Amino acid sequence: MVHDTTVLLDERRVFEPSEEIKKRALIKNWDEEIEKGKDIEKYWSDNAEQFEWFQKWDKVLDDSNKPFYKWFVNGKINLAYNAVDRWIETEKRNQVAIIYINERGEEKKITFYELYIQVNKLANALINLGVKKGDTVSTYMPMCPELLIALLACTKIGAVHSVIYSGLSVGAFVDRINDAKVKVLFTADGTYRRGKVINLKSIADEAILQCPTVETIVVVNHTGTPIEISELSGREIFYDRLIEGEPAYCEPEPMDSEDPLFILYTSGSTGKPKGVLHTTGGYMVGTATTTRLIFDIHDDDLWWCTGDIGWITGHSYVLYGPLLLGTTTVVYEGAPDYPDPGVWWKIVEKYGVTKFYTAPTAIRHLMRFGTRYTNLYNLDSLRILGTVGEPMNPEAWMWYYKNVGKEKCPIMDTWWQTETGMHLISPIPISPLKPGSATRAFPGIEADVVDEEGNPVPEGKGGYLVIKKPWPAMFRNLYKDEERFLDVYWKTFPGCVYRAGDMVRKDEDGYFWIQGRSDDVLKIAGHRIGSAEVESAFVAHPAVVEAAVIGRSDPIKGEVIKAFVILKEGYELKTQLIEDLKKHVRHELGPVAVLGEIVQVDKLPKTRSGKIMRRILRAHEMGEDLGDTSTLEE
Ligand code: PRX
Repeated sequence: MVHDTTVLLDERRVFEPSEEIKKRALIKNWDEEIEKGKDIEKYWSDNAEQFEWFQKWDKVLDDSNKPFYKWFVNGKINLAYNAVDRWIETEKRNQVAIIYINERGEEKKITFYELYIQVNKLANALINLGVKKGDTVSTYMPMCPELLIALLACTKIGAVHSVIYSGLSVGAFVDRINDAKVKVLFTADGTYRRGKVINLKSIADEAILQCPTVETIVVVNHTGTPIEISELSGREIFYDRLIEGEPAYCEPEPMDSEDPLFILYTSGSTGKPKGVLHTTGGYMVGTATTTRLIFDIHDDDLWWCTGDIGWITGHSYVLYGPLLLGTTTVVYEGAPDYPDPGVWWKIVEKYGVTKFYTAPTAIRHLMRFGTRYTNLYNLDSLRILGTVGEPMNPEAWMWYYKNVGKEKCPIMDTWWQTETGMHLISPIPISPLKPGSATRAFPGIEADVVDEEGNPVPEGKGGYLVIKKPWPAMFRNLYKDEERFLDVYWKTFPGCVYRAGDMVRKDEDGYFWIQGRSDDVLKIAGHRIGSAEVESAFVAHPAVVEAAVIGRSDPIKGEVIKAFVILKEGYELKTQLIEDLKKHVRHELGPVAVLGEIVQVDKLPKTRSGKIMRRILRAHEMGEDLGDTSTLEE
């Protein structure tokens, strides 16, 4: 969604940090830190020193084969060891590592020691299942402790994890599992959502029939929904049974810095989702450093990122970032407004959350309830707030700042992507803030705005967002699709700069104002979904010949889907068919694919080579000039 960020509110002013924030801040001078970051090798290697390496790297960055960069070359390390085992020898041993809370008000607290034992047992169990270094393990699970334990257990033995978001459905599930040749799948009986239990197992059961590589399915009995043992086929086993009697120690696998850590599928503008591949050493350094410096992490912090582990935010900032710093992380399973729209603020009060990180769509949703719920609870424990996933409109920023942060908590509007692994553009706590701007590139990151040819554009003028230097948590490839990796990200502009896929504008202070995607990727409630994927889902319905989808602006979700469909002869777009189509797309893709509107058309605008010109549909939708239509078929 393109926000008109040029027209701001009355409060078109710069928000300065309080004395309290400045006093605690780990970085005291923003410009100096950015200056320090210009020597990227020194900057990132200094930050890498805080970890325990089994063998130190002998070169920080190998850029001899761009864009196949290597970080911390020949370093040997284990990320689970650094996130969990390391703390067992310290005073953090009995500190809570994970606070799991759900919408029913149930909680589970797991200390670093307990987490260590659980991870070890599961890691041993995975080894017994025949999982070896480099094998792929998938999860299709709720936000529950076993999910974090499963990912850490994979990391401990060098298995590559590939998480499937629990809000995705059968079609999306099958594609992801088969593409990654998954050996073991973790799932659960269900997940809590607005007073109901969503049966994840039945979706997994349906999907798994089409997934021949999966040898074992591990089922967590999370909601206590009875699952008949007889339902469990030869390849299924309950989680509790699996870890029973397993030894409580497992040797961490020494991983090369560049060994794969995980694959996470995300949507692009064309075709199937892309398997974004992240590796070990650089990802660890990048996520931990940004968590620490952007959210100013101290030993007394209680961290809560509301993102789901099914997306990159959950990987980097629910799981790895905080645990690598020995920080307690809150894991919440449920919606932001159930049982009522005060549920998040109630949790902040009850546990004394100090750092709170969420998505603009959630803020826009909650701000509809005014101050009723934010005033009901004591939010004084909060020190720093954050947002991620889409442009933060200034109105929502102000509401968040005033009513949640009580005008004393700076808001970190963090720009990044599945591909970047870590925050790349973001303020730090002492930064002067402008509502709606992600401010400047993080130290060590060089971001810029360029035109179609790759030339830098002047201040104030919009253009394409590019990153000009490598960064440690960058993705290393697209799984089994190197050509797409090179074409989509590295070949658009000269000089091997990274093309982010966003439109952006830089103001007179060098602040970035992200305006939305420049391609056919939609952002629905912060979730990323490709137009092409939704179109394929439509076309798989017997009534549809052809479909084109674009994003339609939505006040809460940012964008929802507007679909243009050509129907087969004999079909008409009546209420029943609309309902059927909605159900069908939801079944294929899951509830993330929110359909705002479906319209029937006779023709779609196409290029002479037959490619749908979504640009024309978008321009038409916004009542804008159609632009260059010289390639239009008719
Ligand atoms: O368009 C940008 C938007 O989210 C995209 C990346 O989506 P995904 O890979 O799902 O990762 C989301 C969580 C990191 C970007 O290309 N985006 C992300 N953060 C911001 C943002 N847009 C504006 N402001 C942000 N802070």
